[in-house]
Amino acid sequence: MDHFDYQNGTMHAEGVSLEALADAVGTPFYCYSSATLVRHYTVFADALSGLNAEVYFAIKANSNLGVLATLAAQGAGMDIVSIGELKRVMAAGIPASRTVFSGVGKSADELREALAAGIHQINVESIPELKTLSAVAVDMGVTAPIAIRVNPDVDAKTHAKITTGKSENKFGIAWEQAEAVFADAHAMPGLDVVGVAVHIGSQLTDLTPYRDAYTKVRGLVERLRASGIDIRVVDLGGGLGIPYDAETPPRPAEYGVMVKEVMGGLDCRLAFEPGRMIAGNAGLLVSRVVYVKEGLDRNFLILDAAMNDLIRPAMYEAHHTIVPVSEPTSDALEPIDIVGPVCETGDTFARQRMMPKIKAGDLVAFRSAGAYGAVMSSMYNGRDLVPEILVNGDAYAVVADRLGIEEMIKREHIPDWLERPSLKEVAG
Ligand code: LLP
Repeated sequence: MDHFDYQNGTMHAEGVSLEALADAVGTPFYCYSSATLVRHYTVFADALSGLNAEVYFAIKANSNLGVLATLAAQGAGMDIVSIGELKRVMAAGIPASRTVFSGVGKSADELREALAAGIHQINVESIPELKTLSAVAVDMGVTAPIAIRVNPDVDAKTHAKITTGKSENKFGIAWEQAEAVFADAHAMPGLDVVGVAVHIGSQLTDLTPYRDAYTKVRGLVERLRASGIDIRVVDLGGGLGIPYDAETPPRPAEYGVMVKEVMGGLDCRLAFEPGRMIAGNAGLLVSRVVYVKEGLDRNFLILDAAMNDLIRPAMYEAHHTIVPVSEPTSDALEPIDIVGPVCETGDTFARQRMMPKIKAGDLVAFRSAGAYGAVMSSMYNGRDLVPEILVNGDAYAVVADRLGIEEMIKREHIPDWLERPSLKEVAG
């Protein structure tokens, strides 16, 4: 459930009209709903009640400081994959001690910085990373609390680009090597092996792969304990899917029941790293129609938003529901291609989508854009990074300013050895 709906003929985020926001900040812009973020977090946390569970929001899904602070106020910890993300967490006022550091290629410098900041847990993914972390921790005179991510070789049955738990994927320690690697890590100085971590992919719409992976992990925990390694934490990753279109992902409560069935009685803290499930349907991308172009065999809705703002359709063939901000007055629909202004055909959001009549100047909203939306945007084609707005009841705040071409140009330089005309001469 989300808090975006039509009120008096105009789509609102909670109590705030998207038309009013478009007038205030210009288009395109991202708009997040606090009430929806809080609801999704609460539903997820409630589904795990009684499980000694800790929820770490995977900030790669949405790392806006306002979003992070909103979730932290509900008790969420944070899951990060770079020192840049740790800096975001700390800038949002959240301590490193509430943060798990995941990721397949953490450098020695990143590991050092995370330890110095007092990171809660580091999820290690390879033998070289274990050796690097051990050396860094010894050098700093500290002990690093670690979980080792295993690759259970389970097919999550999601898009190939976001499947992570198959043996051919780059993530985690191969299942067959897991016990030997835990034993090695246990013997390395500077490391405290507290847990086992697993994450098999994103946008999962079926519980079966989860159940298979978690069952394997439980067996591993039992074997490790029998061998004298005191596993206290099992980090079960993220990945729970959301409805973008007609999908029917498991409800958090069903996921919670499955986790209880598989992990019950293990006497472990359980950690979770949801991203999309919390933020995905808590955000919209709002865009204005620049032109309606009538072609020979199809028409095009040309928007001011493009693939640089929301790359998911181009990158994963992802579906985003697109709705007019003004409530349609008729049920009539017609097929139309919805595209952005970037100069490649991949900049197509939807082909032959059935849409109500929309004209140039109208606003449209992309649903389910709160996760992997703004965070994946770029300045391709000389385009801005667009503003982000957080709504809370009748109030709103600009939680990310527009980052424009001037800033982009400022960081670039023409080398001394090139003669160049001044920009003024070019312009003149
Ligand atoms: N934990 C780890 C170790 C991860 O790699 C991920 C996502 C998560 C947690 C959070 O997964 P979630 O709950 O959000 O599914 N850009 C892609 C999704 C990439 C997911 C990467 N890892 C997309 O737009 O679909």
